[in-house]
Amino acid sequence: MTRAKILSVGRYLPERRVTNFDLANMFETSDEWIQQRTGIVERRYADEGVFCSDLALEASKDCLKNAGMKPEDIDFIVFATLSPDHHFPGTGVYLQRKLGITDIGCLDIRNQCTGFLYSLAVADAFVRMGMYKRILVVGSEVHSSALHYTKEGRDVAVLFGDGAGAVLVGPSDGSSGILSSHLHADGRYAEILMLEIFNISKKPYITHQTLDEGKQYPKMVGREVFKVAVTKIPEVVNEALNANNLKVEDIDIFLPHQANLRINQFAAQQLGVPEEKFFSNIQRYGNTTAGSLPIALSEALEQGLIHEGSLIMMVAFGSGFTWGANIIRW
Ligand code: ACO
Repeated sequence: MTRAKILSVGRYLPERRVTNFDLANMFETSDEWIQQRTGIVERRYADEGVFCSDLALEASKDCLKNAGMKPEDIDFIVFATLSPDHHFPGTGVYLQRKLGITDIGCLDIRNQCTGFLYSLAVADAFVRMGMYKRILVVGSEVHSSALHYTKEGRDVAVLFGDGAGAVLVGPSDGSSGILSSHLHADGRYAEILMLEIFNISKKPYITHQTLDEGKQYPKMVGREVFKVAVTKIPEVVNEALNANNLKVEDIDIFLPHQANLRINQFAAQQLGVPEEKFFSNIQRYGNTTAGSLPIALSEALEQGLIHEGSLIMMVAFGSGFTWGANIIRW
């Protein structure tokens, strides 16, 4: 069976930088607290009026430019986000329209910080089946509109930033490509990190009361996220290594989801991976959720950390809980 590979990568980060000091001017927090707990120094925020699909469009254009292709060359779109333009329709169709193309299928994936890994696995399967040849896989987030800039919401507000990344996936003509993907979820933790406002069991499903209660902002039990993440990340890394008869030392670079530098440092330590092999850019962008992995891949390539034949492992953990890993030969 033909293997699928990443043909091209692109990213887009909004220009507006918001430092920890800027946040400390808005509510009770400090640069020291944020850096110590998360490693984050600053993040990017999209301007008022900018949609998730707008960031995705810029990342897609960058990706297409790097591939030397046009939007018409794409034959399917997989779109991952937890901050869609609207509750429905899915954001993939908005991206399709903004790219100036019609007809091709658009699939929206709702797996939060693991969204890009799930999306890539779906694209990989479609390509291997021979169903499509040029799949645009995008992860994009506008978190800044849904954060609670108060003492009450500060635990979540300091973590997230806006941004998007995109890759083109197509058939490989050699040994390079996605070797395997390993996806997991555990719905028993669904309420640990969630946005409650869309409660379809209620008639009507949004009320003045739920707004007054702040249910439009994400809620998180941070310690629980941390605890499960540092267990599941090493577990799924080992699962992916075992599936390919590889050892930790065989991996040239780990691209972990950028949720918290401390989580990644802890995981790297447990796995015995030197920190410099565990890519990080969370210092500059915070947690861009579905955008985090393609942004990291794009920057790692630009920094010359990935070469032909490099073995890459992507690993992510997030709300759901969902988690996963893949191994790619570049
Ligand atoms: N600034 C200053 N103080 C704060 C802030 C803040 N931004 N946030 C919380 N605090 C305070 C709390 O109020 C609390 O004060 P108290 O002791 O007076 O009650 C104190 O700091 C400790 O709060 P904890 O929540 O216990 O802090 P903790 O050490 O657990 O760190 C953190 C919080 C950084 C959120 C940590 O739990 C964490 O990183 N968890 C993982 C979060 C994560 O990765 N989420 C993204 C998942 S990915 C996805 O799917 C979207």
